[in-house]
Parts: sequence; C-alpha cells; structure tokens
Amino acid sequence: MSNTVIRPDGQAIKLQDLDPRLDPWAEIERLRREKNAIILAHYYQDGEIQDMADFVGDSLDLSRKAAATDADMIVFCGVRFMAEVAKILSPGKTVVLPDADAGCSLEEACQPDDFARFRAEHPDHLAITYINCSAAVKAQSDIIVTSSNAEYIINQLPKKQPILFAPDRHLGAYLAQKTNRDMLLWEGTCIVHDQFSEHEMVKLKARHPNAPIAAHPECHDGILSHADHIGSTKGILDFVVGSPANEFIIATERHIIHQMEKAAPGKTFHAAPGSDGSCNCADCPFMGMNTLEKVYLAMLNSAPRIEIPEDLRLRALKPLEKMLEMSPRPDAVTQAAE
Ligand code: 13P
Ligand code: SF4
Repeated sequence: MSNTVIRPDGQAIKLQDLDPRLDPWAEIERLRREKNAIILAHYYQDGEIQDMADFVGDSLDLSRKAAATDADMIVFCGVRFMAEVAKILSPGKTVVLPDADAGCSLEEACQPDDFARFRAEHPDHLAITYINCSAAVKAQSDIIVTSSNAEYIINQLPKKQPILFAPDRHLGAYLAQKTNRDMLLWEGTCIVHDQFSEHEMVKLKARHPNAPIAAHPECHDGILSHADHIGSTKGILDFVVGSPANEFIIATERHIIHQMEKAAPGKTFHAAPGSDGSCNCADCPFMGMNTLEKVYLAMLNSAPRIEIPEDLRLRALKPLEKMLEMSPRPDAVTQAAE
C-alpha cells in the first residue's frame, strides 16, 4: 500500500505529512470544481468514498460513465484495471487512481505472457475475457465482459463457437452452465469471493431462514448452489431493493452493504462468512487501499496517473468496444437470477 504520493514535479508527499486540520471533504469539493473532475467509485469502496463520489456503480456502468464524461479529470476510486478501462475509453482525460498499488488478484493471476501461450495453444477459440484483467491481456482478447453482461454477450455467439474464458474460473464455470457451452477456463480466482465458506454459510442461513442469499458469480459453487439470486454488484443491489424480504445474506464484498442500507433503509444485511465464521474475509484489500486522504492528494497532484502506450490502448480498445456494442441497453441490463 502506497503511503507516499509523488507529485509530477518529483516532490514526494507522505500521508503523515498532511496537515491534520485539513478537511479532505472540503478540499476534494474545491478540487472537483477547479479541475473539472468527476469522481467515479465502485460499490466496494469505503462508504465515505461512495458518499462523495459523483457516481457509484458496477464495472459496466463505471465504464460507460468514463466513456461518456466531459470532465477533464477522472478520479477512479476502484482498482487499477478499472482506471485503465477509463483511460482506454477516454484517452484525452487525466485518469488518476488514489493508490497506485490497488490491483486485483484476478489481474495478478493472468500474466500477459502466460495468456499469450494459452491463446496460441487454442487458435480456434474465441477469447472472452472478464474485465478484471490488465490492459495487456485485454489487448489479446476478442471480447471483454463484465458480470452483468457476460451471459447476454455469450448467448449472441454461435453455439458451436469454442470459447476460452479468463481469468475467473468460478465466473467461467457459472457462465458455461448458464449458457450451456463448453468453455476452457483460466485458473484465476478472486481472493474475496473464493474465501466464503459453504459450511459457515449454511450455519448463517439456519440462523436467518427468511433471508434470501444474494451472491456474486465470482463465488465458488459451494456458495452459488445456495443462492436465491446470482448477479453483478448492481444486480444484487437491485434484487435487495425490489425483494419483499426484509433481511438478506450478501455474498460479495461487504462495502456494497453501505449502498444497500441507503437504497433500502430498514432492511437488514448479513455479510457472507469466511471459514472462521467472521466476515473480515468479505473485505477486498485492494479496494481498501484507497482512502479519502489519497483521493485528495491524487486530485491535488494529478497523480498517480494512468498512462497506457497508444498502440496497446488501441489494441485493448477493440474488445472493449465490442463489449459495449454487444451489451444490453443501459436501462435494459438484466441480471442472471436463479
Ligand atoms: P461488478 O461490479 O461488475 O459486479 O464486479 C465486481 C468486481 O469484482 C469488482 O472487482
Ligand atoms: Fe479483484 Fe476480488 Fe478485489 Fe474485485 S473483489 S477487485 S475481483 S480482488
């Protein structure tokens, strides 16, 4: 986790050097106007970051926002692959990521050279790649998907088309079963969703028998097999708002509960448990690297900035454009429901 911010002039500012009397909310507000900045946040960010963002969303909606904005600066409160997508779609903007080390276990699990070998071994396969990967892996893919549009996009492909799916094997297995396709799966997992315990989940459900289980498809089958609803973060949020139930078990990163409590006040949410029965495992350590202070410094310094060589950007843009072209209309995004 980076505690030092390097300004474009080379000067390093340590977080502990910040004046403790500084009000990051007021400073961010001032910089938002001065720099004509838009703050985009994923649902897995801390509640205070979600509350000061201009837009909070899932990976697909955040990509669309980044592509459409006329702001000069995009402050991406999420992880690196998301900020890279913003830069690929909006190359003329300054895109900053509050903590340069905010990565993703799925991105790490799929290194570009290994992916190139995988592709070369299966030249007749179409590479459908989850958006949680680096720009270098996107550049080698045919179509990018997110958890909210993957099923819809795959269903548009000919039934006999052989498919490689990377890097999340749980999402891949779920999609292969939903779309009834044979898919070769990369072996990556999300460290958050992979840790939920089926045994503890069954115990939690026994304590809350009226609480439907809503799960993200990055969860393993031991969790998905108990789910009443499976969908992207936005899909899970819409499900809990629309459901007549009053309590829910949420099998995804727990910070989305902040948005659920705002959208469905009065309802109760239980975070899915890990193997020791605690819910700390529902915290994404990468998302947690961003703080309000780092958002302020990123806006002040216009750094850490996402830069992508133009030839790589253009190659990564193609499968992203394909995704946007093949996605349902924004107001018609439906979620996979069980
Ligand atoms: P969505 O917000 O698209 O459901 O993705 C979740 C995720 O893993 C973000 O890292
Ligand atoms: Fe990556 Fe999982 Fe964190 Fe999402 S929750 S950013 S998939 S590690």
